[in-house]
Amino acid sequence: MPALVLLGAQWGDEGKGKATDLLGGSVDYVVRYQGGNNAGHTVVVGDQKYALHLLPSGILSPGCTPVIGNGVVVDPSVLLSELSGLNERGVDTSKLLISGNAHIITPYNVTVDKVTERFLGKRKIGTTGRGIGPTYADKINRVGIRVQDLYDESILTQKVEAALDVKNQMLTKLYNRRAIAVEQVVEELLGYADKLAPYVADTVLVLNEALEQDKVVLFEGGQGTLLDIDHGTYPFVTSSNPTAGGACTGAGVGPTKISRVIGILKAYTTRVGAGPFPTELFDEDGEALRRIGGERGVTTGRDRRCGWFDAVIARYATRVNGLTDFFLTKLDVLTGWEQIPVCVAYEIDGRRVEELPYSQTDFHHAKPVYEMLPGWNEDISKAKSFSDLPKNAQAYVKALEEMSGAPISAIGVGPGRTETIEINSFL
Ligand code: IMP
Repeated sequence: MPALVLLGAQWGDEGKGKATDLLGGSVDYVVRYQGGNNAGHTVVVGDQKYALHLLPSGILSPGCTPVIGNGVVVDPSVLLSELSGLNERGVDTSKLLISGNAHIITPYNVTVDKVTERFLGKRKIGTTGRGIGPTYADKINRVGIRVQDLYDESILTQKVEAALDVKNQMLTKLYNRRAIAVEQVVEELLGYADKLAPYVADTVLVLNEALEQDKVVLFEGGQGTLLDIDHGTYPFVTSSNPTAGGACTGAGVGPTKISRVIGILKAYTTRVGAGPFPTELFDEDGEALRRIGGERGVTTGRDRRCGWFDAVIARYATRVNGLTDFFLTKLDVLTGWEQIPVCVAYEIDGRRVEELPYSQTDFHHAKPVYEMLPGWNEDISKAKSFSDLPKNAQAYVKALEEMSGAPISAIGVGPGRTETIEINSFL
């Protein structure tokens, strides 16, 4: 009954696509359990590069069934164009399953995301503008539209009416925008119904039956631990639960079924959007990490903020997710530095603090306390085993492991599918 959760241990963009895809060949189901097309995975297969936003990366592994779980928010137009883009490149997408309970990102949710961000001005979250937050808000407010609603026109119309009732007041009276017509939205949504129908399924049943039959199921988190609505740097977070518990609610699988929780950890740190980031660099080192690491958002095209590795965050991720392993990515990006600073604790108003402060005020005041680790100059992209790494790179990995509280079971040394050192098998 191997059920693995693979999630971001930092602020997202840790290179989960590569890790998921590496496992994809040996797993039967790859499930997304939260988020939507705010995520962005780059997967490199041979000389082909795929940028996925909504689809689970298992879509590229022929034997694997990709699943969009009930906890995901789905923009049908994005989903269909992602599918047709893959089909044009010869990828078979017919095995995809979408939960009938997943919520739909409607055009008005996208509008609300954009206007509220604009209204917040300098207090904005820096969202991806994809309608994620407003769609989850509708879900919690019980005015959301689910995939299954596309198959009952009368219910769909009633629900869109209910959702637009207040939103149109807000759009016209507060934001000075035009009202959105119910019929127009209903017509657009109904237009997706037939195209999505072959994929819609009771994914909770499918996944639990698969686990009973000893199939391997991989739950793939979008974003990362520090962007979690409950456990992240609120309010500078996304509106769902990328942490391990989200896999249970977002896919309908009980916690007793999860056998392993793997945190993807970049060898340094990045963040997109606003919010605190203690190890952020504003100097040449930050520029170099951005350039060498190709730190530009797959989804938004925005430059990512870059900084040194933060062990306080890694320890926190181990705790809130119950991590059993880490997959350390992008170690190759650090090649060429004489010394590499690693944040081992924070200094907050003159106090040394070892653990992530629960208070937002403290976190905003946190200054990194660095330990300097010796760097290396050798090209590590061809390394196949841990012992192939230069001594200083080995020591860097070992130091991170010790500080972070879980074994590092795999190391990414380049963007390609094969450029990974496996230390302990995940299966
Ligand atoms: P939203 O998810 O579009 O609502 O954006 C909320 C915050 O999460 C913003 O700071 C985004 O930049 C960030 N965010 C959302 N998705 C990702 C991701 O996949 N990687 C990194 N940051 C993300």
